[in-house]
Amino acid sequence: MFDKKYSYLGAHLQGSEIRRLFATSMRPNVISLAGGLPHADSFPNDEMAGAVSGLLTREKEIYLQYGGSRGNRDGFEAARCRMQKRGIDVPAEEIIITSGSQQVIDLMTKVFVDEGDTILMEDPTFVGALGVFRNYKARLEGIPMQEDGIDLDALEGRLGAGIKVKFMYLIPNFQNPTGLTTSIEKRMRILDLARQYDFLILEDDPYGELWFTGGPDDVRPIKAWDTEGRVVYTSSFSKIISPGIRIAWAAAPSGVIDRFDMARQMMDVCSNPLMQGVANELCSSGFLDAHIERLRGVYARQAETMLAALEKHMPDGVTWTKPDGGFYVWLTLPEGTDTLDMLKNALDADVAYVIGSAFSPDSGSRNALRLSFCHESESAIAEGIQRLAAVVRKRLISSE
Ligand SMILES: Cc1ncc(COP(=O)(O)O)c(C=O)c1O
Repeated sequence: MFDKKYSYLGAHLQGSEIRRLFATSMRPNVISLAGGLPHADSFPNDEMAGAVSGLLTREKEIYLQYGGSRGNRDGFEAARCRMQKRGIDVPAEEIIITSGSQQVIDLMTKVFVDEGDTILMEDPTFVGALGVFRNYKARLEGIPMQEDGIDLDALEGRLGAGIKVKFMYLIPNFQNPTGLTTSIEKRMRILDLARQYDFLILEDDPYGELWFTGGPDDVRPIKAWDTEGRVVYTSSFSKIISPGIRIAWAAAPSGVIDRFDMARQMMDVCSNPLMQGVANELCSSGFLDAHIERLRGVYARQAETMLAALEKHMPDGVTWTKPDGGFYVWLTLPEGTDTLDMLKNALDADVAYVIGSAFSPDSGSRNALRLSFCHESESAIAEGIQRLAAVVRKRLISSE
């Protein structure tokens, strides 16, 4: 009705492909291996309710009031607590608390990118970031993924050819959507290249604490080696407390944080002070460490169930990644198979996944799909993979 009145940006906004597909995948009988939504059983209800009640009884004038636009003390302490466990030690001046890491991706693009500027990224990458980059009309350039992170030869080839890059967006740990982890050697090399070719890195790390085996040294963020402030680091409480808390943060040089702060003041004013308080209570009491330890066990078992079911049921010609943490497995079907076209058959069989091309900067990965093991029970995951394997088998036979 108002088509002619929209601004250029408003008329060209792109929604998330995943959200569109969600409508069908949320039907009651569908086993959803699609979304990255943690199961509600993982939410620490009682501890959050206790923290809310304590905070409001003590200081409602802080927790129900507007907060600082960069964050409140609670938020800084909670963010510093999580980062220190990962080898990042930055002062509060170098932190902004945001309403999700999604907001950091938006702030980074708003503050650094003009129309036509180049952003480098893993291909495939997080669909929510692609949406932001596209909405700001950036030039998206994907670098293919390998088992241990991006293909460095391809990256060096592009940089050597003289492209000017504003920043590179990376998810080094248990990447969304592939579940792959960038090796430590590659992290160091990417940081060297950022110095040599003068670009920034946006390091997105929402899954970094959710390893199945090993420990923090295997998933040390690039930010931990960043001595000159080239890395803007973001992480979030979405996957370790609950997505609904909408508390995340960025760590960057104070000049960048000031810009983010100015941009966010006109957006959503501040992040929820009460939820910053809750995050800090759960961190400082030690509860969150124990909770994350439990989550690691749950997700490791769910991943194991998915991998075992894939091994048992998938036909020859299908391959998949074996994540060491996080939420996702990336499945590749024989060349020429179209997972968008196959989705209808999967939904008819009451199982949902996300199509590979949703994660690609240039609509590639058409023969791939993302599976998540974070949302369903082990028995539902096993059943879901069995259903999906039947759909895949049928598709491969009919294309012979
Ligand atoms: C890689 C990645 N970055 C950012 C986000 C957004 O997280 P938040 O809930 O903190 O906005 C997600 C959520 O799935 C994600 O997978």
